[in-house]
Amino acid sequence: MVLRSMGSELYKITRTRTQEKSQQDVQHETRKKSVLILGGTSGLGKELAALHEEAGWYTIKTGRIEKSYSYDKKGATIHYDLSREGYKDLLGDPTVRNTNFDRFIWVAGMWLQGPFASYSSTEVQKVVEVNFTAPLGIALKLWEVMADNADPENQKSFSVISSSSGITPRAEESVYAATKHAQVGFTRSLGLENQNDNLKVSLFLPGGMKTRLYRNHPEVDTSQFNDPAKVAAKMFELLNNQEERYLEKAFPRDPSLR
Ligand SMILES: NC(=O)c1ccc[n+]([C@@H]2O[C@H](COP(=O)([O-])OP(=O)(O)OC[C@H]3O[C@@H](n4cnc5c(N)ncnc54)[C@H](OP(=O)(O)O)[C@@H]3O)[C@@H](O)[C@H]2O)c1
Repeated sequence: MVLRSMGSELYKITRTRTQEKSQQDVQHETRKKSVLILGGTSGLGKELAALHEEAGWYTIKTGRIEKSYSYDKKGATIHYDLSREGYKDLLGDPTVRNTNFDRFIWVAGMWLQGPFASYSSTEVQKVVEVNFTAPLGIALKLWEVMADNADPENQKSFSVISSSSGITPRAEESVYAATKHAQVGFTRSLGLENQNDNLKVSLFLPGGMKTRLYRNHPEVDTSQFNDPAKVAAKMFELLNNQEERYLEKAFPRDPSLR
């Protein structure tokens, strides 16, 4: 019993060291820029990850559904459920800990729709945790590290994806809209506070996009919604060319983005 538990500890340590070594090797070999995309496994986040990879960035993507940890020369995918794991575990992950991120994009989110009285307290807690509280804790630690490492040769960017529901109230979206308004208040305030020319802050406010966000809502007609790949391409261009310390941009539904 004791031997088995020692064996399992040894396996954990070996696996962690292998992950650290591989991650360091990839970064050293290639000297790529790195981005952490919270919610980079589906929809908008997945499209953003693909654009960064095509442009030669090293991407670290987190998601909830994908069960295993995987990595290759393009990047790593980490299974990480924001509603369960709190933020400390992600920052303790060797891949995340050993990466000097040039960019952080907070994309992860889930939708909750219906009259306020129809929600259970568990549902409300989960949406607040996934859409705001857990990512905020991760953002807090990353902000500190990125601010410390930002200089004219190593400019950093910190980006938050909210929603048009973050500025426009919508009936039957009370809790989702509240989390999206919270992201807006946070990012606008951070943008005002930020005095570091080498650390850029941005806030994006997409309107409806055809993604898995509505997978449990077949009644939602997404035919006029934007294509997440087209929205991601616009965001990517803005991020790559951002000169101002704070940038804000809305992407309402638009036939040219469909
Ligand atoms: N689609 C729209 O109409 C729309 C409009 C305005 C704003 N937005 C915002 O855009 C962002 C991206 O959404 P999307 O439309 O691309 O939706 P999506 O395809 O469902 O992608 C959501 C991402 O968040 C991750 N995620 C969800 N719940 C999570 C959890 N508990 N723990 C960890 N990760 C979790 C997902 O991981 P898995 O792949 O593992 O599920 C996925 O990577 C969200 O913040 C959303 O509020 C979307």
